[in-house]
Amino acid sequence: MFSLSDRTSFVTGAATGIGQAIALRLAEAGSSLIVSDKPGISLDETIALCLNYKVHVSSVELDVRETAQITEVFDRLKEQGVRIDILVNNAGINRPTKALEVDVDNWNDHVNTNVRGGFFCAKAVASGMMSRFFGRIIFVSSQSGLIGIPGQPVYCATKGALVNLVRALGVEWAKYGITVNTVAPTFIETNLTRKRLQNPEFRSYVLGKIPKGELSVPDDVAHAVVYLASDEAAMVNCHTLSVDGGWTAW
Ligand SMILES: NC(=O)c1ccc[n+]([C@@H]2O[C@H](COP(=O)([O-])OP(=O)(O)OC[C@H]3O[C@@H](n4cnc5c(N)ncnc54)[C@H](O)[C@@H]3O)[C@@H](O)[C@H]2O)c1
Repeated sequence: MFSLSDRTSFVTGAATGIGQAIALRLAEAGSSLIVSDKPGISLDETIALCLNYKVHVSSVELDVRETAQITEVFDRLKEQGVRIDILVNNAGINRPTKALEVDVDNWNDHVNTNVRGGFFCAKAVASGMMSRFFGRIIFVSSQSGLIGIPGQPVYCATKGALVNLVRALGVEWAKYGITVNTVAPTFIETNLTRKRLQNPEFRSYVLGKIPKGELSVPDDVAHAVVYLASDEAAMVNCHTLSVDGGWTAW
């Protein structure tokens, strides 16, 4: 539906789960791709699936907690003449821990992965986007950024931070043709959530909160990302697009 055939996208945390689905749907829409994940995490499956869409795909190792690595990766791409039109800050962690048990390492790991990493990736691509007067920056937040969910205060704080970060970046960069948005998914069964969702009590709490009574799937988020990346979404800026089946509406 939306053509991205003249675009190049960079996706973080693309080895599996939602990030892999986002890479695939961007490829399906015709975008060239640079997929990334932490060093040592294989991107082979994502690359092979994307190549089915006959687009150019390359990969880089990037741990988004390492700001020096972010600078190095994006500087190198710039030197190679690679243009990044679409950045998807998907990499994220959730280590559910009750507030009284949160230690500084848990706090820092969430903040550095979920917020700081995405911010510095956005900063690294913004000047190129400004010079070409086009850019789409999409953060993967969560419904946990809009409501409180017991037992994961730090994750909720980081995902809430993204909701306001995109407002701040979006108003600052709109005049350069850049939009900055988030998607806010509900529960999806991935490596991040599988163990918790296997607990029957937790699963029935989750299904009871989603009006449709079904979990979401990675493609639900990926399609929303493709829309936000498209030319057609030019006036959608600073927005959080809920992909939660209505959880946050009641
Ligand atoms: N699964 C859900 O229910 C759900 C709901 C809402 C939002 N989200 C968000 O969606 C995003 C993807 O989650 P998922 O469910 O696919 O999880 P996942 O654990 O399946 O995948 C996350 C990917 O991010 C990578 N990653 C983790 N830390 C990284 C780092 N420091 N640098 C680079 N890559 C790193 C992992 O290696 C992995 O490939 C996350 O931001 C998550 O918070 C997930």
